[in-house]
Amino acid sequence: MTAPLFDRLGGMEAVMAAVDIFYDKLLADPLVADFFNGVDMEKQAKKQVAFMTWAFNGPQEYRGRDLRTAHRHLVQRQGLGDAHFDAVAGHLQATLEELGVAPELIAEVMAVVGGTRNEVLDR
Ligand code: HEM
Repeated sequence: MTAPLFDRLGGMEAVMAAVDIFYDKLLADPLVADFFNGVDMEKQAKKQVAFMTWAFNGPQEYRGRDLRTAHRHLVQRQGLGDAHFDAVAGHLQATLEELGVAPELIAEVMAVVGGTRNEVLDR
């Protein structure tokens, strides 16, 4: 049996490292940085760790809002759309590449994240 994606990525430490680099990239990108204005990044990063842990079949349960509810106001009031989703997904991919994660694992992560598109974009 194949180990959960979470374990194969290197467990919680690796996921935390990825989240740190990922958020730096988001805030440095003018296409998406504005969406995070006024968001407490420390809390947000914790939620992201929890979400990724869940998405990658890790040990913790995700207890935040569902992705549709969490992003709906961004779609309705700030025009969150495919271009932003692609940018965020691209930053995650670049982060994993920088960390030296194996290409097959990156492909699995991107498939999980890609599967959230319609929920995040509320359609
Ligand atoms: C790529 C797939 C995505 C995933 C898996 C994801 C995941 C999450 C999670 C788990 C939360 C916290 C939910 C909670 O409050 O409990 C969140 C919040 C948020 N996300 Fe995403 N997200 C994604 C895409 C995006 C995109 C494309 C943007 C904007 C460019 C974005 C901007 C935000 C913002 C601003 C919040 C905070 C909302 C608030 O608290 O007012 N997310 N996201």
